[in-house]
Amino acid sequence: MQTRIISWDKTDGYAPSDLEDAAEVIRSGGLVAFPTETVYGLGCDGMNADAAGHIYEAKGRPSDNPLILHIADTEELKPIVKDIPDMAKKLMGTFWPGPMTLIFTKTDAVPDVITGGLPTVAVRMPAHIGARDLIRAAGTPIAAPSANVSGRPSPTRAAHVIEDLGDRIDMIIDGGEVGIGFESTIIDVTGSRPVILRPGFITREMIDEVLGTSGDDIVIDTGERGEAPKAPGMKYRHYAPKASMTLVRGDEAEVEEKINELARQYPADKVGILTSDERAGIYEYGIVLSIGSVRDNTLGHDMYAALREFDHIGVKHIYAETFYGTELEDALMNRLMKAAGGQMVDLMDFHRIIFVCRENVTISPMAEMIFKSIVMDKNIEIISRGLVVLFSEPVNRKVTDLLEAHSVPCEEQSSRLLRPEDIDGDPLIITMAFTEKVSVLEQFEDALHVYTLREFVGLEDDVSDPYGGDADAYEALYLELKDLLYKMKKRLGIS
Ligand code: TXA
Ligand code: MG
Repeated sequence: MQTRIISWDKTDGYAPSDLEDAAEVIRSGGLVAFPTETVYGLGCDGMNADAAGHIYEAKGRPSDNPLILHIADTEELKPIVKDIPDMAKKLMGTFWPGPMTLIFTKTDAVPDVITGGLPTVAVRMPAHIGARDLIRAAGTPIAAPSANVSGRPSPTRAAHVIEDLGDRIDMIIDGGEVGIGFESTIIDVTGSRPVILRPGFITREMIDEVLGTSGDDIVIDTGERGEAPKAPGMKYRHYAPKASMTLVRGDEAEVEEKINELARQYPADKVGILTSDERAGIYEYGIVLSIGSVRDNTLGHDMYAALREFDHIGVKHIYAETFYGTELEDALMNRLMKAAGGQMVDLMDFHRIIFVCRENVTISPMAEMIFKSIVMDKNIEIISRGLVVLFSEPVNRKVTDLLEAHSVPCEEQSSRLLRPEDIDGDPLIITMAFTEKVSVLEQFEDALHVYTLREFVGLEDDVSDPYGGDADAYEALYLELKDLLYKMKKRLGIS
């Protein structure tokens, strides 16, 4: 098949007859690849079952993996969804048009091939103007998966689409590089609480802000743990480069050292290193590519392009940094873990975690008890110690009362001094204040992993000290610690 390529430009849009031609291909049951703000989509008339069948064929996509319907105006929802729950209205009001897909209960108007037989349908209103113009001109919702061959990284440039689907589809709209670089956030809004089925640029924190939810009110369920995945597409090995890929997680200096060591096992032109713009310069061996810039907030923009580039160069092994602690952590780590097939060298695999403060009667025992209450992994020993413990004292009554009030189990214990034997086996040591970190490092030269709690989760300053304060000050400390400890748990990737 001769694939026609037309273009769309940010300032000039489409050439006059091109948009109409593209819309006509859609209306007559053909396939058009088009840019969106996330990745390129492969579109067809969403109400035409035959056309949708051709999409599965062109991509080599399993037929139980449903498609997203793209709309240009909210009115288009009416014929395709049974109802619009309140939380959906709030989310749509803030994030549409944009990189968010919602799962609704479908009407009979939506063909079963689109939804893989599910009673629900995925809908997104893209922010990309060229995409919305196309949908409007076609006069129908456009069904569109990412425009890649199934199992390949999603396309973020027209060249990627040509590489995968050139001559298998009718038309490709070249709109240059996409803005975001990875697929939309998928949120199931059919239940009592929203469930994130695929993390994306719209983060859990952004959703919390709109819905007034917090902590783990909203779960991310990509279906990787057992049972049937809720977004069927998430079960397939995705985004995979041809080379084998390993993620390396740890603190910055350690990761650099480890990646350099691992990379040197291979010839320099056969090993790829995946990092950010900011850190690309520190590697002097191997083919170094970046997923985007932390500073410019474009992390992920070049991720799929880099994976494809490694394939072209023919590297045999890719070592990738991880992006825990960044705003887009959930989305980026989800894609990178899939690309790596879950392979990770984890330099943060600690078996003992020690919370340290000065006297070990107030803040560090509180952190210990809260952390124990949220960590399920029984292979991790969680303790607390002090730096100045002249004689052993029980935990501050204000702390035990407060924890009891919050139903956090409280163990009877007395303050203990941090000793050399505690440091055996390279534990993670978390202090509450910077001065305590300095003091640990001065006293124990074997202590390799010492951070303040706030530093560990990417923040500055010390944890607030309630000493001399009233009940409110202790309550505030509890809330602060709980928030930080949830972040710490996430950072450690433990259950
Ligand atoms: O950013 C995006 O979402 C891009 C652009 C083109 O809009 N599209 C995209 O489509 O990523 P695709 O087909 O590659 O991914 C669609 C995902 C799949 O994981 C699929 O299983 C899930 O959406 N999905 C579709 N319908 C669903 C439904 N009714 N319930 C649960 N998951 C659904
Ligand atoms: Mg896809």
